[in-house]
Amino acid sequence: MKKEVKEEKFLKTGIEGFDELLGEGIPIGSSVLIEGGPGNGKTIFCLNLLKNFCNRGKKVLFMSFEEPEGRLREHLENIGINYLDLEKKGLIYLKRFNALDIARSVEALLSEAKKELLIDIQPVLIPKNFNPDIVLIDSLSSISSAFSGESSRFRIYMEQLFRYLEAHKITSFLIREVANPTHIGTNFVEQGEAVSFLSDGIIILYNVLRKNGIRERALEILKLRGINIKRRIVSFEIKNKQIFVVYPKKVLKGDYLLT
Ligand SMILES: Nc1ncnc2c1ncn2[C@@H]1O[C@H](COP(=O)(O)OP(=O)(O)O)[C@@H](O)[C@H]1O
Ligand SMILES: [Mg+2]
Repeated sequence: MKKEVKEEKFLKTGIEGFDELLGEGIPIGSSVLIEGGPGNGKTIFCLNLLKNFCNRGKKVLFMSFEEPEGRLREHLENIGINYLDLEKKGLIYLKRFNALDIARSVEALLSEAKKELLIDIQPVLIPKNFNPDIVLIDSLSSISSAFSGESSRFRIYMEQLFRYLEAHKITSFLIREVANPTHIGTNFVEQGEAVSFLSDGIIILYNVLRKNGIRERALEILKLRGINIKRRIVSFEIKNKQIFVVYPKKVLKGDYLLT
């Protein structure tokens, strides 16, 4: 008898309250931008994802362009992730990258390719011998800043990256730090434009400023291709041990400014 293999199509995040906003889940193979200002919780959100996915036996690659590996490992310990254990099981690959090195390698690849727009980004980004189900990148903004004055190169690089992830059915969460919530007004910001078009989903983490000077945290799923998301801005908290808790029914009300 033919054994029925049910292919998994959607991914739940496992973040408390968040999946209620999502419907079926995140379609496997999607690339999702995690946007927000500094301190809004982007890195912690991704670390929560990492923990939940690894606990379910998924292979996760965490690429950091910001914090050194040592500090990241401490971060993981704080959040309750047993790095060594997961590493032994082959579920986690934590790597610190230098954005300038990446920019230089892309430069070299592009000149080799004689301006052909197809370059093989695998060697400059994805470690050999590790085939991740999920890739987390912290952050596209640091990569972008290494391509200073070379926005077309950054764009080419991003197109290649998204193509690679899609071809390998890798679900990715890509952090993008933005000074202002770019989707609220009409001002589209510099190099962000390309990645916004390329991505399948956008999650925005806000720092809410109330008139009385109190700050709160809120988030929304702005878009997710193929999914009927709940379109609302809702509260969240970062609890002890940097655990993310979303309140899907607590819609933001009253007078506030999103930052
Ligand atoms: N253990 C903790 N408990 C509660 N809040 C924390 C804890 N650690 C960090 N934070 C909060 O998390 C925020 C930093 O989140 P982070 O993910 O590093 O931001 P981003 O990556 O968006 O710059 C800070 O605003 C800080 O107040
Ligand atoms: Mg961060």
